[in-house]
Amino acid sequence: MPTNENDLSYVIHHTRAMRRLKPDPVPEKLLHELIDAANQGPTGSNKQNTSWIVVRDVEQKKKLAELNKIAVDGYIDAPDSSAPERAGIVKAVKWQRDHFVDIPAILIPCLTFEMLPADTWQAGAGSGGSVWPAVQNVLLTARSLGLGAALTTLGLSNRPAAKEILGLPELVEPYAIIPVGYPMGKFGPVSRRPVEDVVHFDRW
Ligand SMILES: Cc1cc2nc3c(=O)[nH]c(=O)nc-3n(C[C@H](O)[C@H](O)[C@H](O)COP(=O)(O)O)c2cc1C
Repeated sequence: MPTNENDLSYVIHHTRAMRRLKPDPVPEKLLHELIDAANQGPTGSNKQNTSWIVVRDVEQKKKLAELNKIAVDGYIDAPDSSAPERAGIVKAVKWQRDHFVDIPAILIPCLTFEMLPADTWQAGAGSGGSVWPAVQNVLLTARSLGLGAALTTLGLSNRPAAKEILGLPELVEPYAIIPVGYPMGKFGPVSRRPVEDVVHFDRW
């Protein structure tokens, strides 16, 4: 485990989903740095077809919070949500649900299509490769700036409603909702399976 906070490897090993965030505003300069980092990510054929919406307006946040709440309540009611390994996540997800409007900035990565996808979810699965590297750049950069962030998707369960709130044109699809702010807690290391368990050389 790397110990120097300035190492990329350290940042990678300590970028956790930080859901409990302070309401203090995030300076625009830092938001700009996050999107700039996102913008350096690769896209298929270098189409550079990702864009970002930064939501700070309270009325907009209230509308997204409502969508998020409906989806989160369904997630919490799922039969395995009381499993001990999920208890911590569920508690943090509830906190995020209840404080969504107080979170200073909500980042939403979007992809612009050239033509109307036959099925937006199918298109999302196939095209997401041009969005997720940018998202990871945001999460890592937030961590390195001392900001907390969490990749969430539940709040987009009702995509047409989310698109309507965000005023997205027909050919622009949202992929994630990333609340960003100063963390209330400490950044711990991530907890993952040992690398020996996930690697196969030459064949499975
Ligand atoms: C595709 C994807 C969707 C996710 N959706 C949500 C979500 O809707 N809400 C949420 O709170 N976290 C969401 N997460 C975050 C994961 O729950 C989190 O990364 C995981 O529990 C590991 O936690 P850690 O990164 O803090 O170690 C999502 C992560 C991924 C990769």
